[in-house]
Amino acid sequence: MSPQYALLISLLIPLTSAFNSQARFTGITGNSEYAALNSSVGGRLFKGTPIVQPCVPSKNARPGNCTEVLSEYVDEVFRTSTPGGYVVPQWETCQTTGAQCLLDYTDPFNLDPVTPPRQCRLGSIPSHFIDVRSESDVQAALQFSKRFQVPLVIKNTGHDYKGRSSAPHSLALWTHNLQNISYDPAFIPEGCSTASASVTLGAGVQWKDAYAFAESNNITLVGGSDRTVGAVGGWLQGGGHGMLSNTMGLGVDRALQFKVVTPDGQYRVANACQNQDLFFALRGGGGGTFGVVMESTVLASPQITLQVVMVAFANATDIALTRELWQTMTANGLQWAEDGWGGLATANVAIYINPKLSAEEATESMSPLIDLGKRLQSDQVEGAQVITTQFESWGTFFDWFAADNVAITGVSLAIVSRLIPKANFATAESQAELVDGLINTSIATPRVIILITAPSSYPGDNTTSVTEAWRSSLYHVTAVTTWNWNATMEDKKEAYAQASASIDNLRRITPDAAYQNEADVYEPNHEVSFWGSNYERLLEIKNKYDPGHILDCWNCVGWNRSAPQFSCYL
Ligand SMILES: Cc1cc2nc3c(=O)[nH]c(=O)nc-3n(C[C@H](O)[C@H](O)[C@H](O)COP(=O)(O)OP(=O)(O)OC[C@H]3O[C@@H](n4cnc5c(N)ncnc54)[C@H](O)[C@@H]3O)c2cc1C
Ligand SMILES: *[C@@H]1O[C@H](CO)[C@@H](O)[C@H](O)[C@H]1NC(C)=O
Ligand SMILES: *[C@@H]1O[C@H](CO)[C@@H](O)[C@H](O)[C@H]1NC(C)=O
Ligand SMILES: *[C@@H]1O[C@H](CO)[C@@H](O)[C@H](O)[C@H]1NC(C)=O
Ligand SMILES: *[C@@H]1O[C@H](CO)[C@@H](O)[C@H](O)[C@H]1NC(C)=O
Ligand SMILES: *[C@@H]1O[C@H](CO)[C@@H](O)[C@H](O)[C@H]1NC(C)=O
Ligand SMILES: *[C@@H]1O[C@H](CO)[C@@H](O)[C@H](O)[C@H]1NC(C)=O
Ligand SMILES: *[C@@H]1O[C@H](CO)[C@@H](O)[C@H](O)[C@H]1NC(C)=O
Ligand SMILES: *[C@@H]1O[C@H](CO)[C@@H](O)[C@H](O)[C@H]1NC(C)=O
Ligand SMILES: *[C@@H]1O[C@H](CO)[C@@H](O)[C@H](O)[C@H]1NC(C)=O
Repeated sequence: MSPQYALLISLLIPLTSAFNSQARFTGITGNSEYAALNSSVGGRLFKGTPIVQPCVPSKNARPGNCTEVLSEYVDEVFRTSTPGGYVVPQWETCQTTGAQCLLDYTDPFNLDPVTPPRQCRLGSIPSHFIDVRSESDVQAALQFSKRFQVPLVIKNTGHDYKGRSSAPHSLALWTHNLQNISYDPAFIPEGCSTASASVTLGAGVQWKDAYAFAESNNITLVGGSDRTVGAVGGWLQGGGHGMLSNTMGLGVDRALQFKVVTPDGQYRVANACQNQDLFFALRGGGGGTFGVVMESTVLASPQITLQVVMVAFANATDIALTRELWQTMTANGLQWAEDGWGGLATANVAIYINPKLSAEEATESMSPLIDLGKRLQSDQVEGAQVITTQFESWGTFFDWFAADNVAITGVSLAIVSRLIPKANFATAESQAELVDGLINTSIATPRVIILITAPSSYPGDNTTSVTEAWRSSLYHVTAVTTWNWNATMEDKKEAYAQASASIDNLRRITPDAAYQNEADVYEPNHEVSFWGSNYERLLEIKNKYDPGHILDCWNCVGWNRSAPQFSCYL
């Protein structure tokens, strides 16, 4: 794949029961309290700082490496391994006050945005972070948060599209250094009796490292399409889709056990044989809601051979060509899902992968797409290409894919999405309507991504808490609008509204269902959209484990919209 086809994948507490009345001073808890907290976490408490701080003109010596910040401002590995860094940077800012410390993503070497009279301010970046190494760090933070009413957030990679890993004046549990990984060919969840091959991942492990580990052990882990998303944080607890999910399930389908500190401070094991309610909630109820996961054990499958078909052309704004591509995809959508294909597509690229078919069967099954690509080539459509190939493992495919497909990073954006059910693929009329809806969406917001990542051939065992709409869907479609550092509050509101209006083209023709991790910040009817019939049970579990709202996040189960940590949302 040449870089011109690079997909932009991402385009693709208030606390009750204060037993201490001093606790009203949210955010201005004194130094001595923080010093005590620091000593109880082994000196691993530190103040939050904006990533650009090392470049801010100052009389004092500047800590940090400004050259590194500027050259890696839009680098996902840099942002996801830096405590104050977030992939979608409006979540570093306070959108309601304008407090921020961002650069121009089109020219990060221009320091005007942080040069006086402009100020570099903390915005929504937590005021303090704990570099978490053990459950006792989490227990200390929970106590501190309850006692002093300081909002608590969990910051893993900072990939969240809805700002759920930052909050103004908060204390953050930074899980990045929980990097243990181990493989057990016959893992038995504690208290259970059935063994399966599995991998146990510390809460900070990112997919790039989990995939490399799987590769070196000749196994397959089902994960997402981005290198730096966390493997068992928000991705897993919110559902977790990937290009293998059609045949091998969502992340939540493959979770065997969690070790988690619940808001009461208990360190618990949740699996099919104990704390089953928590196990259900952690398999789709959403991150940052029910407890702080320290590690999770997930199913490992044998290595797979993948058939890959890719068709692409150069012009991403030629609607007639896009329509042809998407018509071919929707006309064959049901059959291809049944044949085991997953993948993703944009206006000018479609990549499908299959772990079940032989090379010959794959070519046969995909002939409508391959024929389209060949016709575009013979019509001399610019950049038309057809690739049919085979990879010996998920890891080798992913390296090929990820080399050219890097997520946009460091760009403020509003994402919106919709799950598209099988019913929309059933007849020629419904397919035509779906293609119209997709085209209308991509006219309103270019850079639509069709993720063919629903577990449409994987029924699950009815013990996960994501919306059941995932099982009857074929596509998860995303769209975005973006803005730069100097957008006004009105510009931002407009960008959120425009994104939402764009996906209305698909909302009109589908039931209320969306993927919570890649959803509209203002998703209408979000309880039903994200959790369907599971919501009531999730709410009971939230009330059981977190009656004091220690772990609340935006549009999460049982959250309290009035709480101060949400003051920066527009
Ligand atoms: C570029 C990009 C690509 C993406 N690709 C995919 C994809 O292919 N498939 C997919 O399904 N999703 C994808 N996503 C969405 C992704 O699943 C969410 O952004 C998810 O929230 C990331 O989780 P995290 O732990 O890495 O990030 P964070 O922002 O650090 O955390 C996200 C949420 O999870 C909570 N959380 C994190 N760790 C823990 C923990 N240990 N215990 C409890 N709660 C925790 C946080 O409190 C927060 O609420 C993508 C996102 C981006 C930006
Ligand atoms: C916490 O303690 C360590 C070690 O003593 C120290 O380096 C660090 O600055 C302290 N953090 C804060 C926020 O004071
Ligand atoms: C600062 O970062 C740059 C770019 O990553 C690197 O080349 C340089 O060696 C670093 N300087 C110091 C002092 O660490
Ligand atoms: C925003 O800043 C960029 C440079 O970073 C500049 O080109 C643009 O004109 C500015 N827009 C507004 C509305 O000020
Ligand atoms: C990581 O693994 C090592 C070695 O097995 C172990 O000693 C340590 O406790 C583990 N750390 C965590 C946080 O689980
Ligand atoms: C993985 O498979 C290769 C090739 O079959 C083999 O050489 C290697 O020893 C295997 N590695 C492990 C960890 O099983
Ligand atoms: C892409 O296609 C559109 C619509 O046909 C056309 O207007 C535009 O010029 C094309 N762009 C390029 C770079 O060829
Ligand atoms: C797409 O837009 C056209 C023109 O505005 C409209 O007639 C049609 O109903 C829309 N279809 C869908 C599914 O959004
Ligand atoms: C899951 O529930 C559905 C609907 O209640 C039922 O049809 C299906 O058989 C169940 N599947 C399993 C594996 O229990
Ligand atoms: C929600 O938060 C507000 C503001 O902090 C508070 O007054 C209210 O009591 C909270 N509600 C619940 C149910 O905790």
